[in-house]
Amino acid sequence: METLIPIINRLQEVFLTVGAEIIQLPQIVVVGSQSSGKSSVLESLVGRDFLPRGSGIVTRRPLVLQLVNVPPLAERRLQENGNGVKQNANSYPGIKADEWGTFLHSKNQVCGTIFDLHKSVLHCTLSGISPEPIYLKIFSPHVLNLTLVDLPGITKVPVGDQPEDIEAQVQEMILSFISNPNSLILSVSPANSDLATSDALKLAREVDPDGRRTLLVVSKLDLMDAGTDALEVLLGRVIPVRLGIVGVVNRSQHDINTQKSIEDTARDEQAFLQRHYPSLASRCGSRYLARTLSRLLMHHIRDCLPELKRRVTVLSAQYQARLSSYGQPVEDHSATLLQIVTKFASDYCNTIEGTATHIQTSELCGGARICY
Ligand code: GDP
Ligand code: NA
Ligand code: MG
Repeated sequence: METLIPIINRLQEVFLTVGAEIIQLPQIVVVGSQSSGKSSVLESLVGRDFLPRGSGIVTRRPLVLQLVNVPPLAERRLQENGNGVKQNANSYPGIKADEWGTFLHSKNQVCGTIFDLHKSVLHCTLSGISPEPIYLKIFSPHVLNLTLVDLPGITKVPVGDQPEDIEAQVQEMILSFISNPNSLILSVSPANSDLATSDALKLAREVDPDGRRTLLVVSKLDLMDAGTDALEVLLGRVIPVRLGIVGVVNRSQHDINTQKSIEDTARDEQAFLQRHYPSLASRCGSRYLARTLSRLLMHHIRDCLPELKRRVTVLSAQYQARLSSYGQPVEDHSATLLQIVTKFASDYCNTIEGTATHIQTSELCGGARICY
């Protein structure tokens, strides 16, 4: 995802210049049954372990994780000392770190390092199941401006002090998030349970019957019974999923307890895939999932470009008209903006094209033709 950061930043600048609405990237929402590995999948996408995970219902409230790209500390200092740049909501002059976060729940706001926040978030998600989201905002030079939503798992049977209608409650909560047409649905199903009965896919189908914004993630490839494998599922022969099916191996509970690093996890995941699914290894794994998502986000951005071009042209015409009413000859700067937009469209879409994938772009866009 990191390669997208400079591109988005650059485009946001163009958008700001022409006063167009900032590109709204789709939010990524995970759904799946309890303990299917939803939080683990998000964690590997973000490359940081600050989401609560574990057996049982660990995620009891929706967690809306907003990633905000900010310049590194050194650069922020320069800006603050330099020409007295006005502070905005994303500048915390008191924070002497590259990364920090804020955490909002029940109108209380906590601000601190990511490490500090982890505890508060964990504490909060553990307190009773509730549809009221917790908002965790992470500011960092290493993230993409992106919103990820971690949801409680689909449960069947109430346990402990849970209300009788827990299943309906949770289902309604999940539907409210995934029915947003600007949500990309990551439907997480463990490899060691039957995909045909996957609640995650069933719910996704309800709100996205054509499968235009649902991606299937098959977790726990390492936990299948001896003598079985997920090959048929991963090849889409059991249930075809238009945007693709990506198998992953997340950290096990033991790995979490022994604080296995994200890097080691990614390396072992690749080794596992090479050993058990050599023909599919390049189209599976967390890194591939991240790339697939980047590509989907890229397609979304590309879809926004015609409108951006239109705005640049209209604004340019307006300014030209106003300027000529002053009777002075002027240079036309709009060409530069158009060039940036056009160059973006050709360069980066070629890059996307270049990354070999098994997903046909025509499939991704529901058969619509895309112009590169
Ligand atoms: P969630 O309830 O869907 O958010 O699931 P979590 O991400 O909290 O994971 C539930 C448990 O399953 C944790 O103990 C994880 O360590 C474990 N887990 C998740 N994915 C995998 C996987 O791919 N392989 C193994 N071995 N364990 C996993
Ligand atoms: Na869990
Ligand atoms: Mg969870």
